[in-house]
Amino acid sequence: MGHFPGASGLAVKEHDFKKCHQSGFCKRNREYADNAAAQKSTWSSPYNVIHDSISFNDGQLQAVILKTINSEGATERFPLTVTFHKSGTARVTVDEEKRQKKEITLRHDSQARKERYNEAEKWVVVGGVDKDENAKISHQDKDQVNINYGPDSKFEAVIRLSPFEVDFRRDGDSHVKFNDNGLFNMEHWRPHVENPAPKEGEEANQVEVAQKEDESTWWDESFGGNTDSKPRGPESVALDISFPGYEHVYGIPEHTGPMSLKQTRGGDGNFEEPYRLYNSDVFEYILDSPMTLYGSIPFMQAHRKGSSVGVFWLNAAETWVDIVKAKDSINPLSLSTPKTTTKTHWISESGILDVFVLLGPTPRDLTSTYGELTGYSAMPQELAIGYHQCRWNYISDDDVKDVDRKMDRFKIPYDVIWLDLEYTDDRKYFTWEPHSFADPIGMGKQLQEHGRGLVLLIDPHIKKVDGYSQSSELVSKDLAVHNKDNNIYDGWCWPGNSNWIDCFNPKAIEWWKGLFKYDAFKGTLENTFIWNDMSEPSVFNGPETTMPKDNIHYENWEHRDVHNLNGLTFQNATFQGMVTRKKGELRRPFILTRSFYAGSQRLGAMWTGDNQAAWDHLEASIPMVLNQGISGFPFAGADVGGFFGNPEKDLLVRWYQTGAFYPFFRAHAHIDSRRREPYLLGEEHTAIATAAIRLRYTLLPAWYTAFYEANKDGSPIVRPMYWTHPSEEAGFAIDDQLFVGSTGLLAKPITKQDQFSTDIWIPDDEVYYDYFTYETKKTQKGKHLTVSASLSQIPLLMRGGHIFPRRDIPRRSAATMKFDDYTLVVSTSKAGTAEGELYVDDGDSFDFEHGQYIHRRFSLDQSALRSTEAEGRDAASLKQGKWLQVMKEVYVDKIIVVGAPAAWSREEVQITSEGRSWPVKVQYHPAANGKAAFAVVGRVGARIGEDWSIELA
Ligand code: GLC
Repeated sequence: MGHFPGASGLAVKEHDFKKCHQSGFCKRNREYADNAAAQKSTWSSPYNVIHDSISFNDGQLQAVILKTINSEGATERFPLTVTFHKSGTARVTVDEEKRQKKEITLRHDSQARKERYNEAEKWVVVGGVDKDENAKISHQDKDQVNINYGPDSKFEAVIRLSPFEVDFRRDGDSHVKFNDNGLFNMEHWRPHVENPAPKEGEEANQVEVAQKEDESTWWDESFGGNTDSKPRGPESVALDISFPGYEHVYGIPEHTGPMSLKQTRGGDGNFEEPYRLYNSDVFEYILDSPMTLYGSIPFMQAHRKGSSVGVFWLNAAETWVDIVKAKDSINPLSLSTPKTTTKTHWISESGILDVFVLLGPTPRDLTSTYGELTGYSAMPQELAIGYHQCRWNYISDDDVKDVDRKMDRFKIPYDVIWLDLEYTDDRKYFTWEPHSFADPIGMGKQLQEHGRGLVLLIDPHIKKVDGYSQSSELVSKDLAVHNKDNNIYDGWCWPGNSNWIDCFNPKAIEWWKGLFKYDAFKGTLENTFIWNDMSEPSVFNGPETTMPKDNIHYENWEHRDVHNLNGLTFQNATFQGMVTRKKGELRRPFILTRSFYAGSQRLGAMWTGDNQAAWDHLEASIPMVLNQGISGFPFAGADVGGFFGNPEKDLLVRWYQTGAFYPFFRAHAHIDSRRREPYLLGEEHTAIATAAIRLRYTLLPAWYTAFYEANKDGSPIVRPMYWTHPSEEAGFAIDDQLFVGSTGLLAKPITKQDQFSTDIWIPDDEVYYDYFTYETKKTQKGKHLTVSASLSQIPLLMRGGHIFPRRDIPRRSAATMKFDDYTLVVSTSKAGTAEGELYVDDGDSFDFEHGQYIHRRFSLDQSALRSTEAEGRDAASLKQGKWLQVMKEVYVDKIIVVGAPAAWSREEVQITSEGRSWPVKVQYHPAANGKAAFAVVGRVGARIGEDWSIELA
């Protein structure tokens, strides 16, 4: 948040944020776990499924779980459903009958809803939930029910009744177990009974006190001077989920620390605290920590050789996840190595239990199935994948125009310049500071002429001040979040006293949409896009810098229930606004968000918030970005240069080299930091930063294709080794190198000071070439390859077997390169083959949904290099439409075949396309001095959208 200017160098005030023992429900559930562990085999979970309550219809099992709540045998009822979907997922939900039927009373005259929150799915789930009618009971007795489901009925759920447990199996083996350790816990509603204070001189009845449960954290809870009134009392939901035989778990962003998650119950090198998911504006966050950050995606994947499985915990309340890895005890008679089982314990403060189980078996299956459930990442505005120039703040429209001109003067490509907070009149969003931004249209037009865009910050807090129509309308239309007494909530943020729009309310969304219309938000143009920040929400004077949990949202849900969804609903409202700016204009929005939840990937990009200009923050950004990618929200990046502080030049240029490999590539800086636009660095460093940015721009067609793949099936845009090579165990914990889409480009940016070489782990037996020199690397599967990396060098390899598209003349912006001809780089495999794809569309409208795109498949084998329609679409259908017409004049200019087989050693090749055949010159360079043989073919002259082939035989 940075509201203490100049305070850089301080670490986060950890004590401003709760530890598990300070969050009553976390403490209670951890104690529950400790208690169960202490009792070992005598511990028995008090939750039992009533045998006669079980019914099974059309892919869904229903039953009632009874919880024994005291030694007299009193019980509470918890309705259970287990649903099997065609997509192969299974979903387990448990609700609480008493709350469901609203047979409870609330404390403090609260107006809040009585039920457990069950609407997260409305915001999150978009598909993949058609019931699997082929799921069937294969066995049932008094102890258990077995259900077969999924592809070829290979999956099986074994539901045990006493106690309630579920064992998810694939091909007969257990992969995911619920309540295996008996930690399932749903805190049932109970009335608050005041304990009569012992009369003076009287001792409290010792026996009674000893038997009573510890109620000290059930009711009103205080932290940091704020009291949560908890009108429903304790309501937590917890479950242990084990992954037998799995040593690695990934996911549950957003945290710093390694991609392969650590254990959280103490011990050498482990965390002491569970991973926390409670979207928060954490000031100067620390590294290698399970502390919560700005966003959360409660999707975890477990991985081992040959198998990947996952769970998606659909709950938007504060959540903690403990992770423990248990080694099987060593059996001296057994020859096999002992296996590790990862045991996790999920704890949420409120809401129903709602968990999806994904049985893989590959990482790709998981990302695609998860994407089917929560949505794939949106096709981006093309300018959004270029380089973004941001700082807090460009101080005037002249300043913006000046930066824009200087970037051109120094020939540094960029696509978008950003305006932070200070463009507004007194921090009233949708207004302009009248003196310094007197001519926003003139500014916007200059950018437009250069093919560039402008992003404006719009936050969810609305300044409470007279004469500001946004404020008066928000209040008069009653569209703001309420406090616990059901009046409009006031809090403190950038503008001072503010109210917060409640984007759970459809009327608030409708109103918000209207604010983005060109005639409402004067000064905006078609090239204006939006940055949504502070939407955790950040409240400077709130508990843990956010809203009180007893605040009330639309339809009387407590903030407690919906907290982690808040940022998603805000970005959604902005998205709706951006697609309705003008009747008939349908363009892809670009919206950056800091706070997010599962599903936010449908709405735009995220960044990792307020990092620091420090080497360790640069290093930490790579696992964070990789983790976003495998967790379904791949359009991710970190502030290049670091937000707080002033990076040394070497740090800054290394950051550009790293940022060029973030899907979202933006430089940003705190208001107190010195200006650091790349042209200010001095000749040597400016040249290095520029080279990194230009590398990004020449590779834009490859990046865009990777974004397309993410949109199509959820594949990460930048990919960790375990994802691309799921059988190579040595790669499972590697999180400092990455593949770009399916290009075979393997990058390992340097993130340490004074480091001028690095070791790249090689995942397979394929050949690898240096991207820049075509040198054939002497690699060995599973071994490290040392590559040198002077300050101007980026360690970047090309894996043999891939073909990727480039545009070799970097211009000022993506838009100005839109109709440039292509270069294809063929990186030949050991076997002399290669394949790859190009996806391209107009980068702006939704016409791609109506066939306005080019999707090519390139392939090289011994006999030919070919370009064919990737989806087998019929040629006639590819000739219609305005954009496709323009693309007819875009050609393949050059083909570079690296590792070129001898067949390329000739003066020319014949290319055939559209019924014609013509010769194309070849410059063949035989292998020499460690460099692979390579051929440069051109000018090729075949249309990019047409079939063509070069016969080699
Ligand atoms: C928050 C954002 C930061 C932004 C600042 C001012 O701290 O994380 O990026 O510059 O607010 O709007």
